[in-house]
Amino acid sequence: MSVKNIKTICCIGAGYVGGPTMSVIADKCPHLTINVVDLNEERINLWNSDDLSKIPIFEPGLQEIIERVRNKNLFFTTEIKNTIKNSDMIFISVNTPTKTKGIGAGKASDISWVEACTRQVAKYAVGDTIVVEKSTIPVRTAEAIKAILENSKRDNKEKCSFSVLSNPEFLAEGTAIKDLQNPDRILIGGEDASSIQSLKDIYLNWVKEEKIITTNLWSSELSKLTANAFLAQRISSINAMSALCEVTGANVQEVKEAIGLDTRIGSKFLSAGPGFGGSCFKKDILNLTYLCEYFGLPEVASYWEQVISINEWQKYRIYKLVINKLFGNVNKKKIAILGFSFKADTNDTRESPAIFICKQLLNEGAILKIHDPKVDEAQIAFELGELGKENSLNWSFSHNLGNIFDNVEAIVLLTEWEVYKTINWDLVNDKIMTPAWLFDTRRIVNPDKIKNCDFKFWQVGLGNDI
Ligand code: NAD
Ligand code: UDX
Repeated sequence: MSVKNIKTICCIGAGYVGGPTMSVIADKCPHLTINVVDLNEERINLWNSDDLSKIPIFEPGLQEIIERVRNKNLFFTTEIKNTIKNSDMIFISVNTPTKTKGIGAGKASDISWVEACTRQVAKYAVGDTIVVEKSTIPVRTAEAIKAILENSKRDNKEKCSFSVLSNPEFLAEGTAIKDLQNPDRILIGGEDASSIQSLKDIYLNWVKEEKIITTNLWSSELSKLTANAFLAQRISSINAMSALCEVTGANVQEVKEAIGLDTRIGSKFLSAGPGFGGSCFKKDILNLTYLCEYFGLPEVASYWEQVISINEWQKYRIYKLVINKLFGNVNKKKIAILGFSFKADTNDTRESPAIFICKQLLNEGAILKIHDPKVDEAQIAFELGELGKENSLNWSFSHNLGNIFDNVEAIVLLTEWEVYKTINWDLVNDKIMTPAWLFDTRRIVNPDKIKNCDFKFWQVGLGNDI
């Protein structure tokens, strides 16, 4: 392929990656026309909603961009056939969850959605098309994509050619727009230099050339899994140390600062918490361990498995601690849950530690009063599943903090939302039962602000009741 002057882009998948990524590309490249397609009609309708507060993803800065570019050079649609046909470059940005059945169930990534949309590209594409893997996929998936593209039956009889690139996305939710506007690096893996250059030319509209690195396809695919494994490993490492701090009198915050000043370690991603959540870390490490086993490296697989084990244990030990501090019994006790999303500044609840902790507390008979500024009640009901249904009278939800603290015997702070940093704890003190506990799993409560309160206080990585 010669270097293509890209004019029209299609992105398949209007989710947490496809939506924000294409919005930023549209904003930075007004000369491009971008169509984001999804088979989920309801999601597309929400992206097209006149009321911008209804777009399906909450990300700081996203609404403003949508307002600038939607229906100018960014379009959300369910019309896949013509969109593919008219595109020079197609991003695959669909979900790749953990397989639930068959070989590799519970570990391997399910690439059914990648395969399904690749078949549609093969069927409808015209001329020379560059296909870009944006989804996080097992290493060597590009091989499968190429095989499907080159061997499928086509709708049109014209000669077609395809080039497959890997361009993993490193954005984190809650900071997606900033991450996309000012990425640490852009990674492009591929075999065809001209296609790589075509994609590079798009990013060069706002990213410095030295930040754009190119590799072979397999290094690019594997770098994404490696990055997530390393990031998750740091969290499991600091969470493991948080437990040791709590029993030795050390303070994990001080340990974090002491080690973070070592430039070889660095200060980021060392905050102890209730365990990592989100749709990526667990799924991608499971996928990595599956690949290691598949390629005959069980020792490497079990090394990475430990990152997940510690994460599960962190959630479990926090749940157990809440029960123990409440005299081993939470039956009929009211507990306030502050935060349900897996981190602040997102409405995403996938793999949120709040799901496990709330389910365990409900199972113990507790009455939960759940608050989150952005997650809605239906989403919480979905995550609590059958247990939530069986105990529907035992949990309630509110978007505002109003009466969330009335008569509770414990407050469990699970997400580091800004609004929790400014709670007036003296006022809360008047509303709650005594004795009561405040469990701060994110270390955002300033101990000075609660020194006149009657309740007992526990913080991750410090532990003691001050
Ligand atoms: P998502 O579930 O939010 O969105 C995926 C979308 O793809 C859904 O709306 C779904 O309806 C659509 N889809 C599936 N098959 C389709 C098809 N054949 N045609 C049209 N639409 C189809 O997922 P996400 O969080 O955006 O993640 C997408 C990929 O990006 C995953 O591989 C994920 O691992 C990776 N990733 C996610 C993040 C993140 O922070 N969420 C960050 C980096 C990479
Ligand atoms: C992650 C990666 O950071 C991103 O590069 C990748 O593209 C997708 O997966 P995301 O899951 O959206 O992003 O958020 P991230 O900021 O990584 O947080 C993941 C989880 O780790 C959250 O539950 C967060 O609260 C937790 N975390 C993060 C900690 O407990 N401590 C930290 O120091 C950092």
